[in-house]
Amino acid sequence: MTGSLRPLIAGNWKMNGSRATTRDLLAGLRAFLRESGPAGCDIVVCAPAPYLPLAADRLEGVSEIELGGQDCHTAVSGAHTGDVSAAMLLDVGCAYVIVGHSERRADHGEDSETVKAKGETAIASGLTAIVCIGETLEDRDAGRAVDVVGSQLDSSLPDGTDAANTVIAYEPVWAIGTGRTPNEAEIGEIHASIRARLLDRTEDGSGVRILYGGSVKPENAAAILSVPDVNGALVGGASLDATAFWSICQSCP
Ligand code: PGA
Repeated sequence: MTGSLRPLIAGNWKMNGSRATTRDLLAGLRAFLRESGPAGCDIVVCAPAPYLPLAADRLEGVSEIELGGQDCHTAVSGAHTGDVSAAMLLDVGCAYVIVGHSERRADHGEDSETVKAKGETAIASGLTAIVCIGETLEDRDAGRAVDVVGSQLDSSLPDGTDAANTVIAYEPVWAIGTGRTPNEAEIGEIHASIRARLLDRTEDGSGVRILYGGSVKPENAAAILSVPDVNGALVGGASLDATAFWSICQSCP
């Protein structure tokens, strides 16, 4: 962890669930909060867009858990059938939005320029952007992970980034949903390189949180979260289970 940065644990539900599981999952998290009190980290759940209003309703009065979207458009509004704007996310109660997740980059051909524009729209709309970057296995095996992640950061980082409006999520593509993770030294190397670039590029780069994502589970969370410059986690599969997600939240040092 960097100095005194408060960790952030973000759950990315992806395209999973229903009204019923949204209710159950949030009821589970509320129960854990009631039983054990605040977790010592900021918590955000990024639910599928149709379930955000329900999630907001279920989190009414629960200041410890915030809501996030999983994507937003670059435009503020307009003729973009099927898309969701940052302003809409804010309107239904979101404080965060993920931009540039590798699944969006792969499924929808989003390049870093688009991701940067999305981040800038998110920030201008009053959301905190969680900007995702990460190398492929091919990049890692070729020994160019640091370079690839660095250039993705350079081209995806929103103009006007500061510690309050932007979070970086380092997610190696090959670790997402696979059960494989880089080792702690490898995670530390990438996070240190991201920190150095943030210090170079932004006014308060020391305050921007850098999350690790990719197969974070209750079993590996404490070790990953204690790596220097790891300021939290972006959690996919394990965020669909209240017990597992809460356990990760409680693993913050
Ligand atoms: P995972 O997903 O935890 O299921 O690997 C992480 C993510 O894609 O954000």
